[in-house]
Amino acid sequence: LADDGYRLWLKYDPLPVSAVQKEYTALLTAIAPPPSDSPVAQTAVKELRKGLEGLLNKKITLQTSVSISENGVVFTLNPSAKLDAEGYHLYRKGKQTIIEAKTEKGLLYGTFGLLRHLQTLGSLTGLDLVSNPKIQLRMLNHWDNVLGTIERGYAGSSLWKWYELPERMDPRYEDYARANASIGINAVAVNNVNASARFMTAEYLIKVKALADVFRPYGIKVFLSVNFAAPRILGKWETPELKTSDPLDPQVQQWWKDKAKEIYTLIPDFGGFLVKANSEGEPGPQDYKRTHADGANMLAKAVAPQGGVVIWRAFVYSPNPQGDRFKEAYNEFKPLDGQFDSNVIVQVKNGPIDFQPREPFSPLFGAMPKTPLAMEFQITQEYLGFTTNLTFLASMYKECLESDTYANGKGTTVAKVIDGSAHQYPLTAIAGVANTGSDRNWTGHFMSQANWYSFGRLAWDHGLSEETLADEWIKMTLTRVPSAVKTIREMLLVSHETYVNFTTPLGLHHIMGQNIHFGPEPWLERSRRPDWTSIYYHRADSLGLGFDRTASGSNALTLYRPEVQAQWNNPATCPLPYLLWFHHVAWDTRLSTGQTLWNELCTRYYEGVNGVADLQKQWKSVENHIDEEIFDDVAGRLAVQHREALNWRDACVLYFQTYAKRPIPAPYPTPE
Ligand code: GCU
Repeated sequence: LADDGYRLWLKYDPLPVSAVQKEYTALLTAIAPPPSDSPVAQTAVKELRKGLEGLLNKKITLQTSVSISENGVVFTLNPSAKLDAEGYHLYRKGKQTIIEAKTEKGLLYGTFGLLRHLQTLGSLTGLDLVSNPKIQLRMLNHWDNVLGTIERGYAGSSLWKWYELPERMDPRYEDYARANASIGINAVAVNNVNASARFMTAEYLIKVKALADVFRPYGIKVFLSVNFAAPRILGKWETPELKTSDPLDPQVQQWWKDKAKEIYTLIPDFGGFLVKANSEGEPGPQDYKRTHADGANMLAKAVAPQGGVVIWRAFVYSPNPQGDRFKEAYNEFKPLDGQFDSNVIVQVKNGPIDFQPREPFSPLFGAMPKTPLAMEFQITQEYLGFTTNLTFLASMYKECLESDTYANGKGTTVAKVIDGSAHQYPLTAIAGVANTGSDRNWTGHFMSQANWYSFGRLAWDHGLSEETLADEWIKMTLTRVPSAVKTIREMLLVSHETYVNFTTPLGLHHIMGQNIHFGPEPWLERSRRPDWTSIYYHRADSLGLGFDRTASGSNALTLYRPEVQAQWNNPATCPLPYLLWFHHVAWDTRLSTGQTLWNELCTRYYEGVNGVADLQKQWKSVENHIDEEIFDDVAGRLAVQHREALNWRDACVLYFQTYAKRPIPAPYPTPE
């Protein structure tokens, strides 16, 4: 039967006969469930049994106990184990294989850890694997709307069928929860940050409760994005009428407290609120001359009694032709450090602008030691080619996480900021904007499943390398044939750089089609706002190209620590991937590659397209090892990607040539 991609990485087809497979079959014969009837523990047992029965192609019995001289898996709940609350320890004791954890959630993650170990053909001999999550809240943010559309979603419509809920529960909700639990995701915000106030109505809350009930046995908490003006919008129908959403108004405060109580009555483990305020036209506390902290703290007080948190987004900027959008989130939030309640987390996008194919890390990381900062990555490929481009994002996530902020001196990486170790944050969180939708294979491009997978795994352990993540995903999803694994791994690892090369090489940014965020539009000069044009960002002229953010320009570089500034502020030594982020460089300047800026720019655009052709060849070479349906689907999308890459290359090279007025260097052909 052809594989339609629905099962993601949770494929438990029988393992082919091999030495490890024989080892598994001999050693894993029975399961002793944990002494707990919690739904999460039951999920763990159910998943383990399902996984083992599939992989080993035999019945696995449940036994009340498995003795030390019996081959079997034993769940061990051990509150005094040296583990974090959700961590696990997999090891062998006598003939037993033990999944040990302090909590039921730990057992669930340990179960998926063991299954992953088997799916990737790890040996059981000497098994001794301890794993603890480095970040507490590992979230997906869904930008899903009331009517079933998804903002910046490209894989169909929303998974949540609001109009059917709560009476009809789509079985897919549970499959979704399984997939998340298997990679360690433990929280989801189900609706768009550009939030409809309707999500706060009783009509919608019972729908959200129905989802929360399905997710709970998988260890997943639900969050809601809120419209800050909800009291005013919904208060219209209340008596007495509420005419404001001012966070310092006692009636507004009471409205939120009552709302929180109502939600917690339905969903006792409700996670809390996610808020986009005073950003891109959304309402917020500044509408009433209050600060982001005033707004966040008001909501925080409403959910505090039930242990909820408020995740307040720092994605803000305003139309300021003289300013630099790069600096705005920093300028608004840095002064508020220390002013947020203890259950507020500020969520910062990885880069200072907006999920561009490559950005330097946001200068806020490392700059707010008194405020827990969460990372917001995008999994959906808004600026990374939607569902027609193979772009493995683990490389991009890692590049950001490993960037050094120097906040406490060398080695204070972004990862250490968000995992709380740099500033001892009491709360830690990381969010990925989901790439899921109603498409049968969940993510549109089959290979984009690897981005969902890698995000979850990195949220659990940011120390995992992109090579490991690629390997795991390929073996669990596509093939275990070593030569094919190697080829596909190489494809994944080079894919992000390839995409950057044919779209925004050398630190160019925000030159895409401005409305849909797809395809090239570097020539865009006019928009409703200056910071929504392309020329604002690339600043091409007869002299050169790039945005000067040094002292002679916007000076945004000074938002970083001196050590970071030192790496980036000299155009002669600034790493080429960031060059045009920070410098306006003359067309004939010689770069470290030995080529002039113009020639290097052309080279990257052309080599980017060649890179896509290479991906096509590599994919063709593994055809015999891949399911036919998946092979054809990916091959088709790679062909589309090649066409799109040509379009990007030709559009950008010809456009920038109108300023550079130099020939396209050999051996590259001039576009027609
Ligand atoms: C981007 C995206 C918007 C989204 C916004 C946000 O600008 O294009 O659709 O609402 O980010 O993160 O809030």
